[in-house]
Amino acid sequence: TAAQKDGYDWFMRKEIYEQPDAVANTLLGRHSKEGKLVLDELRMSEDDLRKIDKIIIVACGTAFYAGLVAKYAIEHWTRLPCEVELAHEFRYRDPIVGPTTLVVCISQSGETADSLMAVRHAREQKARVLAICNTNGSTIPRESDAVIYTHAGPEIGVASTKGFMTQLVACYVLGLYLAQVRGTKFDDEIAATVAELEAMPAAIQSVLDGIEPVIKLAEEFADEPSVLFLGRHVGYPVALEGALKLKELAYIHAEGFAAGELKHGPIALIDDQLPVFVVVPPRGRDQLHDKVVSNIQEIRARGARTIVLAEADDQAVEPYADLMIKLPKVSTLLQPMLAVVPLQVFACELATRKGHDVDQPRNLAKSVTVE
Ligand code: G6P
Repeated sequence: TAAQKDGYDWFMRKEIYEQPDAVANTLLGRHSKEGKLVLDELRMSEDDLRKIDKIIIVACGTAFYAGLVAKYAIEHWTRLPCEVELAHEFRYRDPIVGPTTLVVCISQSGETADSLMAVRHAREQKARVLAICNTNGSTIPRESDAVIYTHAGPEIGVASTKGFMTQLVACYVLGLYLAQVRGTKFDDEIAATVAELEAMPAAIQSVLDGIEPVIKLAEEFADEPSVLFLGRHVGYPVALEGALKLKELAYIHAEGFAAGELKHGPIALIDDQLPVFVVVPPRGRDQLHDKVVSNIQEIRARGARTIVLAEADDQAVEPYADLMIKLPKVSTLLQPMLAVVPLQVFACELATRKGHDVDQPRNLAKSVTVE
């Protein structure tokens, strides 16, 4: 009903704009003032947590992409190997899982059959199973050993937005907590990242406040037959998510690629006027940023139109951007929380412009309860 939409015409649009609050709610009560993580929900002793030697994340769809982002953060912070697997691929390949494996199932609805079957399989193998879920009392948390609830509030739009955003938050909190318990990060480094997470609602809001150029872009690109998305490191799953949103909502052919893979094949797709979104990593000590900037030069030289998501004052990339979407400064691992927002808006605006129902796209269901 109109009331539930709070004046928005689509649930999806409303849910995109709720993301700053959703992030704040998901962080609430999960750290101390000093920046120490509090995660009693894990229901594991510190001793047991130290015995974990591998993490496997299982999920489907958008939740899977949240898992891909989480892998970078969790491995970096905890030095534990972390695999991410599509839930429907997991149980049928005889995965290596045992009592010292932590299996994390990410599911907004908590009812996705493919993900539930992966949870059941993991438990049969005596793994410890943790759910990251947005729906209280749903099946996946009920069948797991423990659950971290995301506090996004009900997500009605079929294509996940604030669900994804808060899954990222829950994964970061989990990674930082494991690092704290296992001693793989100094307390002040953890506290600095917690402070950065606390600043994210305002940063996401500022991306939303400056979203007008993205809305115009969606009008301009409404008749494009195909759009590419490139990213590297955590920007790679963001590119995959940007492409998925466009497929789901606008029914446009879209693909996400790892920017480094471009030269190994996908560059053959680049031709005159092809729109290509590129997520540019923040400038830092590593060379990720510069390498992505040279990818942008390469595709632009071949005629692509480049839509670049980069730090606001990134002058190195600006000359190669047909449009630069400016993001607030943030550390690389947290950048997906900002970079995904314009891609959600782009897909939503483009699809509504084409007259599509973005809350209930064709052929899709909010939760798929059959395998
Ligand atoms: C469906 C939805 C997707 C969602 C996926 C996983 O396919 O259309 O938007 O990402 O299920 O859903 P879950 O509830 O498990 O996160």
